Amino acid sequence: MRSHRLDGRATTLLLLQRGDELPEIVHWGARLPDRLELDGLAALRDRATRHNGLDEDHVEAVLMPTLGTGALRAPALVASRGGTDWTADFTEVAVRAGAGTLRLVARDPVAALALEIHLALPADGDLLSMRSVLRNEGVAPLQVERLAAGVFLLPAEADELLVFDGHWGHEFAERRIPLASGTWASENRRGRSHDRFPAIIAGTTGFEEDRGLVHGVHLGWSGNHRTTAERLEDGRLLVVTGEWLHPGEVELAPGETLETPVAYAATSLEGLSGLSRRFHEGVRRGVLRWPGGAMRPRPVTLNTWEGNYFTHEHDRLVAQAAAAAQVGIERFVLDDGWMTGRRDAHAGLGDWRPDPVKYPDGLGPLIDAVTGLGLEFGLWVEPEMVNPDSDLYRAHPDAVLHVAGRPLRTSRHQLILDLTRPEIAEAIFAQLDTLLRAHPIAYLKWDMNRDFVAAGDQGGRPAYRRHLLAAYALLARLGEAHPALEIETCASGGGRPDLGILRHTHRVWTSDCTDALERLSIQRGFSRFLPPELMGAHVAASPNHQTGRRHTLGFRAAVALFGHMGVELDPTTLSPDEQSVLAGWIALHKRLRPLLHAGNHAALPMQAGRSVRGVVAADRRHAAFLVAQERTDAHRAPPLVIPGLDPAVAYRLRAPQPLDVKLSPSQRRLFGEGLVLPGALLGAAGIALPEMQPETALVLELAAVD
Ligand code: GLA
Repeated sequence: MRSHRLDGRATTLLLLQRGDELPEIVHWGARLPDRLELDGLAALRDRATRHNGLDEDHVEAVLMPTLGTGALRAPALVASRGGTDWTADFTEVAVRAGAGTLRLVARDPVAALALEIHLALPADGDLLSMRSVLRNEGVAPLQVERLAAGVFLLPAEADELLVFDGHWGHEFAERRIPLASGTWASENRRGRSHDRFPAIIAGTTGFEEDRGLVHGVHLGWSGNHRTTAERLEDGRLLVVTGEWLHPGEVELAPGETLETPVAYAATSLEGLSGLSRRFHEGVRRGVLRWPGGAMRPRPVTLNTWEGNYFTHEHDRLVAQAAAAAQVGIERFVLDDGWMTGRRDAHAGLGDWRPDPVKYPDGLGPLIDAVTGLGLEFGLWVEPEMVNPDSDLYRAHPDAVLHVAGRPLRTSRHQLILDLTRPEIAEAIFAQLDTLLRAHPIAYLKWDMNRDFVAAGDQGGRPAYRRHLLAAYALLARLGEAHPALEIETCASGGGRPDLGILRHTHRVWTSDCTDALERLSIQRGFSRFLPPELMGAHVAASPNHQTGRRHTLGFRAAVALFGHMGVELDPTTLSPDEQSVLAGWIALHKRLRPLLHAGNHAALPMQAGRSVRGVVAADRRHAAFLVAQERTDAHRAPPLVIPGLDPAVAYRLRAPQPLDVKLSPSQRRLFGEGLVLPGALLGAAGIALPEMQPETALVLELAAVD
C-alpha cells in the first residue's frame, strides 16, 4: 500500500494505492498533518460493502471508476470497440509526483487502453484541478461514450446540493436539493449553458454563505457536459464531471487520444463565501491569461446595444461616445448592427465588413472619433455564425453544421459555421484579422447566439466538441496575432461563462437581462465560482428593456458597481443631473476597483429580504459591501454584521456618495462623515441600518484607521 497526496494551503487530497491499481480517494478536505503513518492510513479504507458483495476486495471511490474494477456505480469511462473491450480495468498504474502535481499513467492490457490522469493543487492555493487523457492502444477503433474530466469524493454529510438551472435572461438560478440516496444528474446537449451552468455545490444541510462544509466542482468547458452526484453504499458522495458526447462523436483510431477539459474543485469549511474565495483566487492565479501578463484596471465600458440596437448613425454614436467620455467611461463597444446588410437579425452574419450604407467610409471615422475622445474601441462579432442571407452563405451553402437529409434549423435566423473545416476557420480568422490590423480595436465582444441542434459535419458526424475546440483555437490564434486584444465571451449573455473559454477571454457578458433586481441573483450565482473582475455588469435604462421595471439610477449603479462596470443605454438621453450622478458612481467604481477586482469575496445569508455581498482586501484594511433590499419582509432586518473584518483593527465606516437610500439627518452625518468602530464590534454586534425600501441598495466602505 502506498499513499499519494497533494497539499494546498488549507486542503489535502489523499490517495491510497494498492499494488499498481488505480488509487482510491480517501480524503479531500481540510489540510492534513505533514506526516502520516501508512499503517494507520490503511485502516481508513472503506470495506462497508463486503457482505453479499464480491468476494474479491474492491473499492468504488477510485479516481476513474470503471466497470472492470467491480464498481457498481455509474462508470466514469465508457468505451468499447464495436461492443467488445467495454470492461476497462486499469492495472498497471504508476504515479508520478511533481511540484503540486500528480500524474497517473495507467494501462489496461486487456482492453488495450492507456490512461493518464493529471491532478494539480498549488502549495499556496486551494483550487484542485483534474483532467484525463485516454489513448487507444488496440488495433481497431475505440468508440468513447464518456470520459470523466474530474472525479471527486465528498463525505457522507454532504447531503444537500446547490445546483444551477434557469434559462436565457435568468442564468445561474440556484436550487437547493436534498440528496439522500440515488443519483442527481445534469446533462447539457445544446452547446451552451444558460440553463445548466456546468457546476455543482454540495455540503452539510443548511450550509450558508458564511457557514458549513461545502464542496464545489466546475467543468471548464463551453460545450455539452454531464455532471453527476451519486450516493455510494456507505453514504459518501461521488461527483463526476465531464463532457457529454453524442453517439459516434468520439471514435479513436489506433494510437489516437482523447483529452478532457479541466475540472476544477475546492472545498471550504467556511460556507459558500469561503468556497468562492478559493475559486476566485485559483482562477486569478492559474486560469486567466491577461494580455501583457497581468490584469490592468478594468475599463468602464459603454456597450451600444440597448441604446441603439440595429440603428447605427455616425453622429448619434459619436455624441454617445462624447457623453460617455464626459461621465468617465473608458471603453466604447460598438455592438451588433455594423456589418454589411445587418438591418436586423436576418442578414449580415458571416460578412465581417462594415455596412456600406451605415458606414460609407468604413469603421475608420467612427473609431477615430471614439479614440480621439480618449476611449478604447471595442467591436461586437459573432464569428461562429452565418445568416443564410449573407454573401458567405450564398457562396458556400455547404459551410454550415448540418446532417444531410435533415432540415436546416435556423435559430435567430442563423446557422452555425462548420469551424472543424480548416478553410472555414481560416476564412473567418482572415476577416477578423483584417479588421484588427486595419483599426485600433482593443476589444472584441465574441457572441454566439444560438443552440446547437443536430450539428453534424460534412460526413454527418456530430461536430459539437470539434467545433468548440476549433472556436477555442480561433480565439487563441487571434490572441497570439494581436497580443494586446481583450475578448469578452457573450453567447446571448451567460451562455458560455466557464473556465474553458476563460483561458482565451477576459470578461463574461453575464446575462442579457440588465434589470438590476434580476441581476442580484444572477450575479450571486456567477460569483460562486468566478471573480467579479470578469463579471460584465451594466447600468441600463429605466424602465428596463427586458422586464419593464423602473429602478433609480442609484440602485442600478450600485448593482453594477461590484462587477466589471459598464453602461448600456444612450448616455445623451440622461438629464444633466443624471449624468452627474452616473459620473459619481463611475468615479466611485474607479476608486474602488483595485479592491473590488483583487480582494476576497465575503457575503451574508439573505435576511429579511436583504442581501449583503462584498469584497475585503487581502490585508483586511479595506472593504466594500453592497447591501441590497431585494424585497420587503414582515420582519425588520437585524443589525448588519460585517463579515471578513479583522477584529483587532478599527475601521471607518462610510456610505460613499452618491446614496440611494433615505437617511435621517443623523444617519446622513454618520454615513457621510464616517463612523469609527472596532472590527470586533462590526463583526459581532453589527450596526443598525436605515430601513430600506425594496429595490434600493446601500454601498458601504470600510477603511482601517491607524
Ligand atoms: C446577444 C448579446 C447582446 C447583443 C445582441 C446583439 O443577445 O447577448 O448583448 O450583443 O446579441 O445581437
